Amino acid sequence: KTMQQLKHFLTMTELTPEALTELLALAKDIKHQPSVYQNALSHKKVALLFEKASTRTRLSFEVGVVELGGHPIVLSGADMQIGRGEPLSDTIQVMSRYVDALMIRTFGHEIVDTLAAHGTIPIINGLTDLHHPCQVLADLLIIEETFGTRSGKILTYIGDGNNMAHSLMIGGALSGMEVRICAPEAYAPDPQIVHEAQVIAKETGGNIIVMTDPEEAASGADVVYTDVFASMGQEEEATMRLQAFEGYQVNANIMNQANDKAIFLHCLPAHRGEEVTADVIDGKQSVIFDQAENRLHAQKALLVTLLG
Ligand code: CP
Ligand code: NVA
Repeated sequence: KTMQQLKHFLTMTELTPEALTELLALAKDIKHQPSVYQNALSHKKVALLFEKASTRTRLSFEVGVVELGGHPIVLSGADMQIGRGEPLSDTIQVMSRYVDALMIRTFGHEIVDTLAAHGTIPIINGLTDLHHPCQVLADLLIIEETFGTRSGKILTYIGDGNNMAHSLMIGGALSGMEVRICAPEAYAPDPQIVHEAQVIAKETGGNIIVMTDPEEAASGADVVYTDVFASMGQEEEATMRLQAFEGYQVNANIMNQANDKAIFLHCLPAHRGEEVTADVIDGKQSVIFDQAENRLHAQKALLVTLLG
């Protein structure tokens, strides 16, 4: 599992702790001297396929491929034959004849597994219902930039035990961090992914904890993180979820439990007044736009690693 052998990026468990460190070092180098990499993807065509909405993922991948000298092709699932029932396995075998890699944002995680199994090109997960590993690459980069290290840092995630919670557990475990996921019991993270992250954490000296008390979870944290209560595809549950997550809002009281130097992160888009108050997300501990910028640098490093 060295960098040279990285084939797909679906959950981040494809990376060893050492490979993750190398990838983030490459991201920092690309961020500080982008012109060195301007031909790294020369003549490479990268398909970017969306079955859900996107602002950051769409733009950061498209701009990233362009800045590396490659050619991005943005596709919408609804406009393709998969939208009319063409099998995924046929689709990816055809795409493998035309393009050099596929980034996809979709619903069920089994979709990216199927694509990886049947295609001959690298598949990058740009968000599924279960994982959002590209976001966490950017998150780990800002943590490293802020604190000079990831290992030993405490990240508290308060909210839904969703794709973000899952990818933060895996990325945090690989980093030797303590990751506390704090959610109402009915919205706890997937126990299988919790276990998987705990197994990784045992190797790295990290720690993965599932909690239900937000104040306790935030106590002494270096990073406070949240995400929407209703993810894409859960729009009809929004009202019910708003009630279920009462008491799980990141507000000034929660930030006061954390370290004085703690930062606030959010993958975005955010709903001020729901999962986070405006004073926190727009306050001085919030680094959400530096975090969002890092999507570009981290994904360029990923593309160079997979295709360069
Ligand atoms: N954080 C993130 O993935 O944003 P988009 O949904 O805008 O791509
Ligand atoms: N959990 C959110 C993340 C958006 C980037 C969703 O899946 O909609």
